[in-house]
Amino acid sequence: MEVREAIESRRSAGIVKPDPVPRELVEEVLESAVHAPNHRITEPWRFHVFAGKGRGEFARARAETARLMAEAEGEEEEYIAGRTSRERKKAFRAPVVIAVISKGGRDEVETLENYAACAAAVQNMQLTAHAHGLATIWRTGPVAYHPYMRGFFGLENDDKVVAYLYLGYAEEIERPRRREPASAWTVWHEG
Ligand SMILES: Cc1cc2nc3c(=O)[nH]c(=O)nc-3n(C[C@H](O)[C@H](O)[C@H](O)COP(=O)(O)O)c2cc1C
Repeated sequence: MEVREAIESRRSAGIVKPDPVPRELVEEVLESAVHAPNHRITEPWRFHVFAGKGRGEFARARAETARLMAEAEGEEEEYIAGRTSRERKKAFRAPVVIAVISKGGRDEVETLENYAACAAAVQNMQLTAHAHGLATIWRTGPVAYHPYMRGFFGLENDDKVVAYLYLGYAEEIERPRRREPASAWTVWHEG
């Protein structure tokens, strides 16, 4: 698949089939991530792959995070149980979920640029997956950024969660992409 075609035809898929994804394919997706540009070759990306039953561990951490958040917000016990259960189930929305973490840098600029490099890495992963007929969706949200999840991933100081990348086989998606053309956002300086 040509790069341009891959970029333009990729669509995020919130729902995918439960069929497992071969490990070699997941490895190829991960390998494409580390080819992303990164300043001073800091290689700031770290990955946690949750596949099959391994998603249970991730689900439990998410459920506990949702419970802590609901309790902190003073929710009723009944509501807390529902919220916890919904969060737990989210870990099973795809056969593979890859958490992408960005390491903090030696200063603020390096931390910012490490995060940028990881975002580029996620795009590489999405395009590689797409070229192999796999669908992805990049998700985050308040649960992903919560201190409990940071502890679960062993994050330190300026480390950041960049993405939960859900990966699986989807039906063909023919959704038009809603984007303004680049010309709407571009100022040319041509002398
Ligand atoms: C940092 C980041 C976080 C995102 N978090 C979510 C999310 O939690 N839930 C969601 O539905 N989409 C989220 N998105 C958006 C989707 O991943 C997707 O890019 C968007 O729906 C546009 O669809 P497309 O990728 O098919 O163009 C996020 C995107 C980025 C870059």
